[in-house]
Amino acid sequence: MEANKIKLINEDNLRLDGRSFNELRPIKIQAGILNRADGSAYIEWGGNKIMVGVYGPKEAYPKHSQDIDHAIVKARYNMAAFSVDERKRPGPDRRTMEISKVISEALSSSIMIEQFPRAEIDVYIEVLQADAGTRIAGLTAATVALADAGVPMRDMVVGCTAGKVDGHMVLDLSKEEDNYGEADIPIAIMPKTGEIVLMQMDGDVTEDELYQAMDMIFEATKRISQIQREALLNKYKIQDIGEGE
Ligand code: CDP
Repeated sequence: MEANKIKLINEDNLRLDGRSFNELRPIKIQAGILNRADGSAYIEWGGNKIMVGVYGPKEAYPKHSQDIDHAIVKARYNMAAFSVDERKRPGPDRRTMEISKVISEALSSSIMIEQFPRAEIDVYIEVLQADAGTRIAGLTAATVALADAGVPMRDMVVGCTAGKVDGHMVLDLSKEEDNYGEADIPIAIMPKTGEIVLMQMDGDVTEDELYQAMDMIFEATKRISQIQREALLNKYKIQDIGEGE
């Protein structure tokens, strides 16, 4: 390792924030907290704070954007100017357009879009504070907001990141690990089938390391799914009777 490189993992195999390799940051989700939107959710994941509002399904506008076979999912990921250390210039840029696109595609796989021809479903993801992993945190909250809006889905989407830091594969990268680590791999799945709906990679890993990342993420999604579920149960004050065998 270069002498001046920041050390992200100590001698006891603990990360800068004290977490072990496969430990998640704290996650809290609230469903249905905006009165004007059809559905909404708020997520705090580590230092990330993200609000999601959903409108629709409603007639797609402009008309030429309509698809006669299914609804179009329009996710718009936006970072507030004050969400990052250096003021984020308002408005879309390449990164926010890319993230909006991959989130729209991930949600389109889970929503029963074929039930709503010519319609659109708008998903506004507003990042109020960013702390790495915002695309996955936004997507994880968006699916809760869609459920809150009563939009029919095959399954709720859930995701997490893993990556390579100081030569080790670790779960749920912090901002320092994202900035100074060797690789960052966000993955989102539909847990019932295990179908991957979002997968990206920034950096280099071996095939073995990629499978390690996938194993850690798949395991973590069980816990995150439970948090999503609890958010909805809390909102509607329903007792969790489990999914049965
Ligand atoms: O947020 P996510 O990990 O999905 O996307 P990223 O492009 O890998 O960005 C990682 C982190 O860099 C973000 O979560 C922000 O904390 C930070 N960032 C920033 O400080 N300023 C930007 N203009 C964009 C990202």
